[in-house]
Amino acid sequence: MDWGIQNRLSRIIKPETGHALMLAVDHGYFLGPTRKLEVPRETITPLLPYADAVMLTRGILRTSVDPTSDTPVVLRVSGGTSIVGPSLADEGITTTFEEAMRLNVTAVALSIFIGTEFEKQTLLSLADLVSEGEKFGIPVLAVTAVGKELEKRDHRFLSLCCRIAAELGAHFVKTYYCDDFEKVVGGCPVPVVIAGGPKLETFKDTLQLVSDAIARGAVGVDMGRNIWQSEHPVAAIRAVRAIVHENATVDEAMELFESGQTVKA
Ligand code: 5RP
Repeated sequence: MDWGIQNRLSRIIKPETGHALMLAVDHGYFLGPTRKLEVPRETITPLLPYADAVMLTRGILRTSVDPTSDTPVVLRVSGGTSIVGPSLADEGITTTFEEAMRLNVTAVALSIFIGTEFEKQTLLSLADLVSEGEKFGIPVLAVTAVGKELEKRDHRFLSLCCRIAAELGAHFVKTYYCDDFEKVVGGCPVPVVIAGGPKLETFKDTLQLVSDAIARGAVGVDMGRNIWQSEHPVAAIRAVRAIVHENATVDEAMELFESGQTVKA
């Protein structure tokens, strides 16, 4: 792997632990003003010090993140669809590589929609983005999207998606946690991070998800709603961080969450 790509990846996946806590706040690109992300700056600012990277679009980066921030940026560069449109899968590239570089990003991200009528266009976008990334030393994160069909998240489907993403050159992959997750990681020769998905019933469920994913080979999380839709988002991200980077058990992280609830978001 090129030095520049390795260097940028190591700003996200920390060499000290081999793990990464990425904060996903890109949801508005197809969902609009998602609950608790209505005013992105208010949601993002208190969480940034605890994140190894922040994943978002150019619009939210420019309007809602201070340019003096030193948190690495993973720029979402795919989109063009909405939750009320005909298909979430019909994405294209929304931001040029030139602009991504001008924004001094650490990585770029796009979604791929395998198994849909748009799989070819999204996979060719991934391949093109990787070619650009290789030219400029910028890693590409492929997100194995499932659109509205959350039931697709089983290990056979996600293994297929992650492997195809890696074959096309993605430098790291974001997918969902599932039963037999170690099979997904085992078939994917690049690092895998997990999304959190819709908010779980309890925060302990979130911590269990993170703990299980790390134990089964994920290098970390790229998580959004289960952190910032919490009543205590700062306590939540600190607790997730304890599992990702400090090897905390679910009970230890839960204790940290409960004791940290007085920290203001
Ligand atoms: C959407 C995304 C989101 O960033 C991703 O789903 C992570 O957020 P959450 O933990 O809320 O699921 O990539 O395609």
